[in-house]
Amino acid sequence: MTENERFYGRRHGKKLKGTRIFLMEKLLPLVEIKKPNTVFDLKSLYPFTPKAFWLEIGFGGGEHLAQISREHKDIGFIGAEPFINGVASLLAHLNGSWGKSANEDRLIAEGRSDNVRIYADDVRQLFPFFKDESFERIFVLYPDPWPKARHEDRRFLGQKNLKEIARLLVSGGELCVATDVASYAVWTIQQAESSDLFIQTNEDIYQPPADWITTRYEQKGLKAGHRPVYLTYVKK
Ligand SMILES: C[S@@+](CC[C@H](N)C(=O)[O-])C[C@H]1O[C@@H](n2cnc3c(N)ncnc32)[C@H](O)[C@@H]1O
Repeated sequence: MTENERFYGRRHGKKLKGTRIFLMEKLLPLVEIKKPNTVFDLKSLYPFTPKAFWLEIGFGGGEHLAQISREHKDIGFIGAEPFINGVASLLAHLNGSWGKSANEDRLIAEGRSDNVRIYADDVRQLFPFFKDESFERIFVLYPDPWPKARHEDRRFLGQKNLKEIARLLVSGGELCVATDVASYAVWTIQQAESSDLFIQTNEDIYQPPADWITTRYEQKGLKAGHRPVYLTYVKK
């Protein structure tokens, strides 16, 4: 990531209150990844030996990451999100209904967050520290569409990030994309095709993958009449 590739999204929303402040102070330090200065030993991030690693880029409110990590306890998850209110929301989902009644041991007990590690910033800062073929699956769900042509270079799934994603995926690893902006879907399909790094494997792009986990963002779009597109790619 070069100096002039800045993050153009929001880092802060409404002021955090009550339980969310508590979770940011008490739970985040237990699961947070700080920017490393040497290449990651991913296994050392978790208190167990994960079967594989999955990365979610831009987890937003964290509904997908919280649920999928609960369904796949043997996987080590990394989620990256620079929007602090999103990070607090993920922590609330991971923490369930315990809220402030939880002490630090209980916060991380019973595997609720044992298999999730959070980078509360731009995932591109981490890319150089991941070894080749680190991840079995990478999720980029509803990336910011930046619809204006003059903002095209801000769209996440351009050539540079696709190349990094391909490097980070194991052979046969999967990139899962969703968007409800038709022009972004078309652009992503073109980008993936011209990269020549991926094969699109789902035939019906309007059909969510099996066991799809919806998010608040997706539900808002559906209510507003948007039509989601799902793109599943396998690394060549
Ligand atoms: C439209 S939201 C979708 C959130 C979530 N994936 C969902 O489906 O509900 C896109 C998210 O991507 C995050 N994002 C954008 N660029 C990012 C980057 N370089 N690294 C990590 N997250 C990023 C934004 O902060 C934002 O929360």
